[in-house]
Amino acid sequence: MGRDADCLVRYRIVRVNFIKVNLVKADKVKADKVKTNSVRLAERGLSSMKKILIQGAMPSEIGYYLERDIMAGASAVEKNGCLFYTARDGEAEIVIELTKMGMTNAAAATMTAIYEYHPDFIINQGTAGAHVRGLKRGDIVIGNKAVNVHSIKMEKRGFGEGMSPQDWSGMHTEYIEADQELVRMFENALGAGTQTGRAVTGTLGSGDLFSREKDRILWIHDKFGNLSEDMESFAVYSVCRSCGVPCVALRIISNNELLDEDYDEDTAVELQRVIWNALCNEKEKGKKICRK
Ligand code: 5AD
Repeated sequence: MGRDADCLVRYRIVRVNFIKVNLVKADKVKADKVKTNSVRLAERGLSSMKKILIQGAMPSEIGYYLERDIMAGASAVEKNGCLFYTARDGEAEIVIELTKMGMTNAAAATMTAIYEYHPDFIINQGTAGAHVRGLKRGDIVIGNKAVNVHSIKMEKRGFGEGMSPQDWSGMHTEYIEADQELVRMFENALGAGTQTGRAVTGTLGSGDLFSREKDRILWIHDKFGNLSEDMESFAVYSVCRSCGVPCVALRIISNNELLDEDYDEDTAVELQRVIWNALCNEKEKGKKICRK
């Protein structure tokens, strides 16, 4: 190798290491920011929070909120392809966001929400498919963690050698935590169960997929330990972590292929009702935020 090429290689190594060191520093700053916000949340109490942003991917996942008295007159504001509906009650503000479906939409929607509305915390919510036999339609998963179950890699195979999904493995698998204060708040609120089922805390699986093959569902659960599958929550957790915004996702089981339960859109309404009541009760402990 000539002297110039040698220098170039050394320069590249130094530059890559420099970038890596700075990424580690950025991650640390980011983690500290989330911690600070979470402590702030715990110390001040949720009832003192002034701006709550609730997300849903489909109109059926936000319709109940928009029908509440407090939201009457709220008109849709479009930003970056997402719709926002805002209501005020005294000092407090609730923002409802339609994110649209899927991981990229959810990520873009969360970033937009944070930069445009500066929420104190974000609640991502909607329907999900169950990945365990123990959850039936109407049960709710409070996501203390989220994992991307669609981030996979595979061994090389040549033309004519076919595919072998069973042998795929997780790629850069990471579990991102929700804000534990928010998790606790919903555990306290839903612990006794709801009108349609019970509430459990666990890992939400997300990806741009809608799994209907029983064996594949068992495989995903086995690999990732997720209780459910949706298409947004991991993206929301990831963006919220990067931006230091506390968040939690709640998912109601709308389908369980393992039990041959087909998708039921109406389950979305029950989840919204439960979340709304939980927030109203929480707020009544402090400043009043929402009228029914
Ligand atoms: N797999 C993936 N997403 C699901 N959803 C409901 N059930 C499932 C499932 N089994 C949610 C997604 C998406 C829409 C299809 O409903 O989050 O927004």
